[in-house]
Amino acid sequence: MRIVLLGAPGAGKGTQASVIASRNGVAHVASGDLFRKHLGEGTELGKLAKTFMDKGDLVPDDVTVKMVLERIGEPDALGGYVLDGFPRTVAQANALDVALRGANQALDGTPLVEVGTEELVRRLAGRWICRTCQTPYNETTARSKQAGSCDKDGGELYQRDDDKAEVVRSRLETYEKLTAPLVDYYEGQGKLVRVNGQQDVEKVTVDLLEAVSSLVMS
Ligand code: AP5
Ligand code: MG
Ligand code: ZN
Repeated sequence: MRIVLLGAPGAGKGTQASVIASRNGVAHVASGDLFRKHLGEGTELGKLAKTFMDKGDLVPDDVTVKMVLERIGEPDALGGYVLDGFPRTVAQANALDVALRGANQALDGTPLVEVGTEELVRRLAGRWICRTCQTPYNETTARSKQAGSCDKDGGELYQRDDDKAEVVRSRLETYEKLTAPLVDYYEGQGKLVRVNGQQDVEKVTVDLLEAVSSLVMS
């Protein structure tokens, strides 16, 4: 299974990608998580990425494409993956298509998780992330069992720098300008399915799994 999960910042890509990937035994590959991992390790790539992330801008295509293509070449991703946050520009989507063609592979489909802007802003304002595994929680809609720590590994929960209101505004603008065109791009390839993301987490998962299985079968 090879899936690209599309959706605006806060749509629930991370929340859903992790469930879909584990239920299907494939890798969850999130470009934002990879950048934050580099940042945590203090690498040059992490420092470079931060200068863009802090402003709500995209990290340049060349470094992003290289990082993600290397990641999906790792052993745990050979059987498939759910991509979360990549591609984010038409140039990135083209680069992915070229790489897939070169490996005689193709995407099964690209589900789009749709959520209204007001709800996106509300979700990001209340989001907390695990420092260890990057699982997202939410102080109103998805609390951890124990306040301040991750259900999976007890990691400390923190709020992302780019979840500040002014950066969220900029991320949403960047999405509309540079990433929303991917909806037409994948619709043109017959790979797009729309899923209502403004429902309970569990209901969104059910709808996504259904959409994904119809894609994988077809
Ligand atoms: P990235 O980390 O990818 O951030 P994003 O796309 O802005 O998406 P988010 O992670 O904010 O949202 P999400 O859809 O994963 O939602 P989540 O599940 O957490 O990118 C960050 C930055 O890195 C970019 O701005 C850019 O600078 C750089 N970058 C990354 N990829 C790049 C690329 N390919 N090219 C260039 N630059 C790149 O959920 C959000 C909240 O809502 C959580 O609190 C969650 O608990 C809650 N929630 C989830 N589902 C529901 C629900 N159904 N009901 C109620 N609450 C819910
Ligand atoms: Mg995410
Ligand atoms: Zn964790």
